[in-house]
Amino acid sequence: MTPKKKADKSEGSTKEKNNTVSDTSNKKGKKVSSITDLPGIGPTTASKLIEAGYSTLESIATVSIGELASIGGMGQKTVQKIIESAREALEIDFETAKQVLERRRNLAKITTGSATLDTLFGGGIETGAVTELYGEFRTGKTQLAHQLCVTCQLPVEKGGLRDGDDYPKVVYVDSEGTFRPERIVSMASRWSDDLDVDIILENILHGRAHNSDHQMVLVEKMLKDYLPTENVKLLVVDSLISHFRAEYVGRGTLATRQQKLNQHIHTILRAAEVGNLAVIVTNQVQSKPDQFFGDPTAPVGGHIVAHAAQTRVYLRKSKGERRIARIVDSPLLPESEAIFGLTAEGIVDVQ
Ligand SMILES: Nc1ncnc2c1ncn2[C@@H]1O[C@H](COP(=O)(O)OP(=O)(O)OP(=O)(O)O)[C@@H](O)[C@H]1O
Ligand SMILES: [Mg+2]
Repeated sequence: MTPKKKADKSEGSTKEKNNTVSDTSNKKGKKVSSITDLPGIGPTTASKLIEAGYSTLESIATVSIGELASIGGMGQKTVQKIIESAREALEIDFETAKQVLERRRNLAKITTGSATLDTLFGGGIETGAVTELYGEFRTGKTQLAHQLCVTCQLPVEKGGLRDGDDYPKVVYVDSEGTFRPERIVSMASRWSDDLDVDIILENILHGRAHNSDHQMVLVEKMLKDYLPTENVKLLVVDSLISHFRAEYVGRGTLATRQQKLNQHIHTILRAAEVGNLAVIVTNQVQSKPDQFFGDPTAPVGGHIVAHAAQTRVYLRKSKGERRIARIVDSPLLPESEAIFGLTAEGIVDVQ
């Protein structure tokens, strides 16, 4: 786990977050507010680091010495000094539980569009964390991901993340080719008083991932090119594993697959943490024939995925348009269930 920064990370863009360190100076007395202010980082090294996705002080503060040394082509001592300076500038330290509680109270959440589902999620989908939706086909994973692209653009008082006219952006990594802007338009019609559908469509950045490498590059590109400058608040990866699963078949390739997947998940986690984003990943299920009691299905991906998501949600079908969501693995929420409806206008409450 990376250390937590003292300042409240729940509000504001990356740009604003960097401003919170403006009172900290480096040895030459210059204020450290971006990576170029760190000792030992010249313009060439800076562009190498930015190229590799390390554009913020947070990203430098949490990188390993070895990784930074290999990217920047620098010696261990220089790298150590750079990381230490970034940590100092960010005032990385412990917090009291009271401070953590206060910070968590201010944590932004995105409404799902269903009050029952929001209650299940403790108020909505959390920012700064990864939520995994898993389940069989047609259980509503993609629909819920679409719905959050819409609801996150609602004003804060309506359960979204829009602060005044500052609309958040969504990055949608689509590995199955199932993103449909038409669904966004239909879902948005429910909030026509609060949302301008054209603006919403402009704010969703869609990337079609044709294979696992392409998928990895898209997330890295978001981290490098969009997070530092755009107000990205939601990342969707639909689905996380399918390419990896299809490309790496057979026992001999398992280790490579898990290693690549691990790297990919690491980037996703870094995005959630550094950009304070809400991250939704979807996942398929595999049957567990050896399980005789309960539901004989489990999400694919093994331990690596299990440890990546802070909250795991299992979706399954019920009668007609009804679906059931179950919180499976949360550090905070009890294992409980809620029923919601999957309709033309999206995720709704059912009677
Ligand atoms: N226009 C619509 N009107 C009403 N219901 C719709 C509409 N579009 C989709 N749905 C509902 O959403 C379901 C598909 O859900 P979704 O695409 O989220 O499945 P999924 O869990 O992502 O499945 P997969 O694992 O195949 O990706 C449909 O079966 C239908 O019930
Ligand atoms: Mg889907």
